[in-house]
Amino acid sequence: MFFGVLQNEGRLSPADWRRIDPACDRLEIEIGPGDCRYLAEAAAQRLDTLFVGFEMRPSTLRSILARGPLPGNVRLLHSDGRWVVENIIGKNSVDAYHVYFPDPWWKKRHHKRRLFRPAFAEAVAATLKPGAGLYLISDVSMTFADAQKQLLRAGLLRLDWQRHNGASGSYERKYRRQGRPLYQARFQRPGPG
Ligand SMILES: C[S@@+](CC[C@H](N)C(=O)[O-])C[C@H]1O[C@@H](n2cnc3c(N)ncnc32)[C@H](O)[C@@H]1O
Repeated sequence: MFFGVLQNEGRLSPADWRRIDPACDRLEIEIGPGDCRYLAEAAAQRLDTLFVGFEMRPSTLRSILARGPLPGNVRLLHSDGRWVVENIIGKNSVDAYHVYFPDPWWKKRHHKRRLFRPAFAEAVAATLKPGAGLYLISDVSMTFADAQKQLLRAGLLRLDWQRHNGASGSYERKYRRQGRPLYQARFQRPGPG
């Protein structure tokens, strides 16, 4: 279904995702799930939602899979999330994006690997359903500020957001334990939620 049998101008529609798990009415995507802790916990709590992770590092995916089965409403794809969001995800089809602790890629020659680039931010805005949003947390103020600039430029609205309970990822737990300052917000597509 993913590469090869795409319809809808080559983009995945909500109906395509429902074929993966007919019990799921909603689609949430995490870019860079790392050890997948957030996705696994969130999926176990919300069975009406298909949680899809795009993870670029094969060694990370291997270690997730070695730990045992994930909830049935989680799917992981080995991919560059930027490319998939920009080229494959259908317009107006995503209920939430999760981006937790995107790699800062400090060195100038590595800047091109940063997740947030104009085409990605514009694709996030176009693929979210109206009223849906991207949840962003970073411990690096520069990474957060750069992502925010691009998401606002793509037309999303910044809303104050902080997780109080519920599922959370490994980096978030570690940094909260350490008392590290975290930069976080929800970037919402305008429209009825
Ligand atoms: C710092 S880790 C954070 C992991 C997880 N989100 C968490 O909060 O525990 C960043 C993750 O993003 C992945 N990553 C970075 N750029 C990516 C991209 N363009 N597409 C998919 N995954 C990416 C990395 O391989 C890594 O697993």
